[in-house]
Formats: sequence, structure tokens, C-alpha cells
Amino acid sequence: MADWLYSDIVKDHFMNPRNVLMEDESTFAADGRGETGNIKCGDQMLVLLKIKDDVITDVRWKTYGCASAIASTSMLSETIKGMTIEDAYNVKPEDLVDKLGGLPNNKIHCSVLGDKALRAAIDDYLNKTGRSGLFKEEAT
Ligand code: FES
Ligand code: FES
Repeated sequence: MADWLYSDIVKDHFMNPRNVLMEDESTFAADGRGETGNIKCGDQMLVLLKIKDDVITDVRWKTYGCASAIASTSMLSETIKGMTIEDAYNVKPEDLVDKLGGLPNNKIHCSVLGDKALRAAIDDYLNKTGRSGLFKEEAT
């Protein structure tokens, strides 16, 4: 039955998700925008980044995903603030799952959504600054 339980950290991030986009998207005026969807289930994820000198200064996100997707992306948003875009690009869903105190096995794939949207947002920023394809996703 342990697999059914969410950790207290997951519950906290699900009940009080950090850095959710509440304002109009144009008000946030992101430097990088990434959107992804899981075609298997129709979940969508949007990640917006503010970036200064290649450091992430602020982040907003929103999703139609489930509790695990919300908790993982909330944790992701806290983790990447203040990181260089290169370090953020290399954050792994497994790292977030660890920080959350674990996720049920059949929910691990939900934690990948925010991560994918984050890399899309960084790629968008790199395109805009004439450095498209600078980072490659490390093979896992
Ligand atoms: Fe769809 Fe988790 S995001 S089940
Ligand atoms: Fe869609 Fe989990 S079912 S990400």
C-alpha cells in the first residue's frame, strides 16, 4: 500500500504550488517560453522563464496535469530559480522525484512534463539569442 501514498512534500507542493502563472501571460513577459504535451493523456504544460545574463531570475508555469505533475513542476520551479540555463537544462526528473521524497511508480512519467517544457523554454531563449541548439539533452 505504500505505493499509494504521496509524501508530505508532494502534498505540500500540490496544495500550495509555487510559481504558478496567475497573471496574464503577456504581463509576465517571458524571455523563454516552452510548451509540451503528453499525447497519451492530453496533459499540457507551459513553462515561462525570465533570464538575465543566462541566469534564470524568475519562472511561471501552468498545467492541466495531475497532482504529481503539479508537485513536480512546483519543485522544479523552485529548484531552477537562480540557476544558469545550462545547469537548469540538465536538471533530471529523477532529481525532482528525490527532492519530493519519491512518487508512486506509475506517476513518474508525470514529472517529465515540466522538465520537457523547461528545456523547450530554454531552447526558445537560445533561439532568440542566436544560439539555437547550444545544449543537448544528455542521454539517460
Ligand atoms: Fe497526467 Fe500525471 S500529468 S496523470
Ligand atoms: Fe499524462 Fe501522466 S498521464 S503525464
